[in-house]
Amino acid sequence: MAKTDIVFNTRCKKTPPQSLGLFTAETAARTAAFHKTFHSYTPTPLACLSDTAKHFGAGGIFVKDESFRFGLNAFKGLGGSFCLGRYMAEKLGRDIDGLTYAELVNPRTKTAVGDITFVTATDGNHGRGIAWAAKEFGQKAVVYMPKGSAAERLENIRKLGAHAEITNVNYDDTVRFAKQQADKNGWVLVQDTAWEGYEQIPTWIMQGYLTMAAEAVEQLGDKKPTHIFLQAGVGAMAGAVAAYMRSVYGFDVKIVVVEPDKADCFYQTVKAGDGQIHTVGGALDTIMAGLACGEPCTIAWELLEYAADAFISMEDKVAADGMRILSSPLGDDDRVTSGESGASGFGAVAEILKNHLQIKQSLGLDENSTVLCFSTEGATDVENYRNIVWYGKYADE
Ligand SMILES: Cc1ncc(COP(=O)(O)O)c(C=O)c1O
Repeated sequence: MAKTDIVFNTRCKKTPPQSLGLFTAETAARTAAFHKTFHSYTPTPLACLSDTAKHFGAGGIFVKDESFRFGLNAFKGLGGSFCLGRYMAEKLGRDIDGLTYAELVNPRTKTAVGDITFVTATDGNHGRGIAWAAKEFGQKAVVYMPKGSAAERLENIRKLGAHAEITNVNYDDTVRFAKQQADKNGWVLVQDTAWEGYEQIPTWIMQGYLTMAAEAVEQLGDKKPTHIFLQAGVGAMAGAVAAYMRSVYGFDVKIVVVEPDKADCFYQTVKAGDGQIHTVGGALDTIMAGLACGEPCTIAWELLEYAADAFISMEDKVAADGMRILSSPLGDDDRVTSGESGASGFGAVAEILKNHLQIKQSLGLDENSTVLCFSTEGATDVENYRNIVWYGKYADE
């Protein structure tokens, strides 16, 4: 049994924030229409784990497999490309509706908007998405990564032509550094988290994630989920997807946010219950690199405070077990290659169903439940993936 704590959100469903209107089914349709113009666009698969669900005593488990997204091995390119598209649209005096990939990659567009350098901080996946989108649109990218970032993730960003380097500080301080560099050099900060006074660009990034959620809803068809598990770093993905799911399914579905116990800023915020955001500092030392963020995105918190039912804080082993189970499916189930952050949502589901009867009951998880998870990345650090999946790292001693 691995350490898994849950806190229920007493503010859920109370006061709808204004930002809710920015993440509706209608927004998702516009975002998806933009992404569909990309030559490399194809919906990612929705893995069906019927035998695994039966084994654990659930009705059904579905896992959206983002390792297939744009050849980038993670969902984050959706946010990066939509944000850069919106930014370029504004420069062109155009609306994003009707602006296509073909026009954005056309050298005439580059001439019209001029040279832009986009800068960001990243645990890996967001920076790779920005580097890719900037390259596609003929622009420059500068990417900073926190101390301890995997060499493979750094190299994958450099391969896309971006200037990328690892700093000596944690994720949240790296974000501050990227902002300073943007201010100093006249670069455009494209950060996937918001704070007071910096909201427009993160909103566009969050709207970009809706394509993933809308695909999942379409693929599920009439199999309505009863539970959705969403992993959170700064919470931008969870916030956007949770808000969108409320616009599609209302409050019929339970939405659970999952975090590593070393970087559980949302869990701590809800646990404190004083309406204030609570941050987590220090090394944020978790294998779930994409979730190693101690300061919530302000827009995400606003959305999750209204839209999320519960928050889970869990140890690394839960994600590692999730990776192993997904890599080695039962019966006819689809196989999913999922990285440490990618497998965390599913890992939480498996851990609760197997080992935490009280949490299972409190969430109403049973043989009638249909669970939706998002494997938000593939094996983005192959060496660590093998150490975990092949050699049993972070398993029971
Ligand atoms: C694979 C993966 N999953 C989930 C997340 C969490 O997204 P957010 O930071 O928006 O909460 C990230 C963030 O980098 C990620 O890389």
